[in-house]
Amino acid sequence: MNAFPNVTVVSHPLVQHKLTLLRRKEVSTAEFRRLVRELSLLLAYEVTRDLPLEKTAIETPLEPMQAPILAGKKLCFVSILRAGNGILDGMLDLVPSARVGHVGLYRDPETLVPVEYYLKLPEDVGERQVIVVDPMLATGHSAAAAVTRLKEAGAQQIKFVCLLTVPEGLRVMQDNHPDVSIFTCAIDRQLDEHGYIRPGLGDAGDRIYGTK
Ligand code: URA
Repeated sequence: MNAFPNVTVVSHPLVQHKLTLLRRKEVSTAEFRRLVRELSLLLAYEVTRDLPLEKTAIETPLEPMQAPILAGKKLCFVSILRAGNGILDGMLDLVPSARVGHVGLYRDPETLVPVEYYLKLPEDVGERQVIVVDPMLATGHSAAAAVTRLKEAGAQQIKFVCLLTVPEGLRVMQDNHPDVSIFTCAIDRQLDEHGYIRPGLGDAGDRIYGTK
């Protein structure tokens, strides 16, 4: 039986190839950023696969026709700061009209509970398909807290996109938000004692922004 029925591992060969390039420790900051952008675009393609369509009247140079177009209020991407911002560019390449929200959380060093320090969402977030982005779904605590906060703010349809995850993080998300489907390039082996995904790709924020 599939332990994580809400999880889609995007097995497309281009995704798997680019993920392998991204994992390598010798990849430069510029190359890492470029690969994250390309992977994000490919993940955006998968996560939007079931967006509803409606028909609209257009005219081609030859004749009028009823043609499909996205229906309704469409998308809102929500980045979990700061590494989530690295995923936004590729997603916005594919869906330039999407709205964008940001959630900032830090872990209280004593209680280890995620504490919100920033939240900015479009007012109509409740009418949009929300796609939360964070490159690494590791312990799952920040992701689960961010999704809880989005639901409190009115979001109703939420999906989650990451580059990598582990069973530990998926269990936390499944226990707290079984309604949220998760899209990832791979489910890695485990978390280590520092909360890093193994084999992983290191600290995604540091690698995207060149801060270490
Ligand atoms: N965050 C990261 O950036 N990398 C990990 O491996 C885990 C969490």
